[in-house]
Amino acid sequence: MRLVLIGPPGAGKGTHCKKLVEKYGLKHLSSGDIFRAEIASGTELGNTAKEYIDAGELVPDHIVIDMMTAAVEKAGDYILDGFPRTVNQAQKLGEALEVKGCQIDAVIELMIDDAVAANRLTQRRVCLQCGGTYHLVNLKPKVDGICDVCGSKLIHRDDDTEEVILSRLETYHKQTEPIVEYYRKSGKKLLQVDAAGEAGKVLDMIIDKIENI
Ligand code: AP5
Repeated sequence: MRLVLIGPPGAGKGTHCKKLVEKYGLKHLSSGDIFRAEIASGTELGNTAKEYIDAGELVPDHIVIDMMTAAVEKAGDYILDGFPRTVNQAQKLGEALEVKGCQIDAVIELMIDDAVAANRLTQRRVCLQCGGTYHLVNLKPKVDGICDVCGSKLIHRDDDTEEVILSRLETYHKQTEPIVEYYRKSGKKLLQVDAAGEAGKVLDMIIDKIENI
């Protein structure tokens, strides 16, 4: 199964992907996680990406497309989290898959108000070691500031400041939302889910829609 998960920053893409990966045995391909790993390793790609990420802008298409189509080509069943993020990226992904004789089975869109998303992000804490995601109120770690899974220190992402969050949300509405219409017009199965509720209930709705494909 090949899935694309889209939704604004803070919609819960990373949170739900982790559960879907476990349930369906998928590979989690997150462009944001790949960039953060490159940044942590101090690579040229990471240094370039950081400038855009810190400003709440998209990393240029030519960089992302090469990186993500290479990842997709190596994977079997997967869920794409944060890619594609422009119509051009979606088209290039489609072309790369066509060469391999396969296609995306469904596109899941997580829908949420900007205010709820922004509130979640200002209170999010993440583990850069294992990718664990927490929330200071809704999903607290057992020990303050420490990842339950690997024991590493949790951090507040540099792009989770109020100013950068506003810019990321604006970027999402302008550049990423049009993808939904692109996939609808191209006849892809579009699974739209209200992502504002309690995380377990949102996950159940996503699974329900996947099971009905
Ligand atoms: P990326 O890492 O993909 O960030 P994002 O899309 O902004 O998404 P987030 O990780 O912020 O949010 P999420 O939806 O995963 O929410 P989460 O599950 O953590 O990208 C970062 C940057 O990289 C981009 O801005 C861009 O610059 C660059 N980039 C990446 N891909 C690119 C591409 N394709 N092209 C160009 N540039 C690219 O949840 C958020 C919080 O809410 C957590 O604390 C969580 O615990 C909590 N939460 C989740 N669900 C619920 C719920 N239902 N109820 C209560 N709390 C909840």
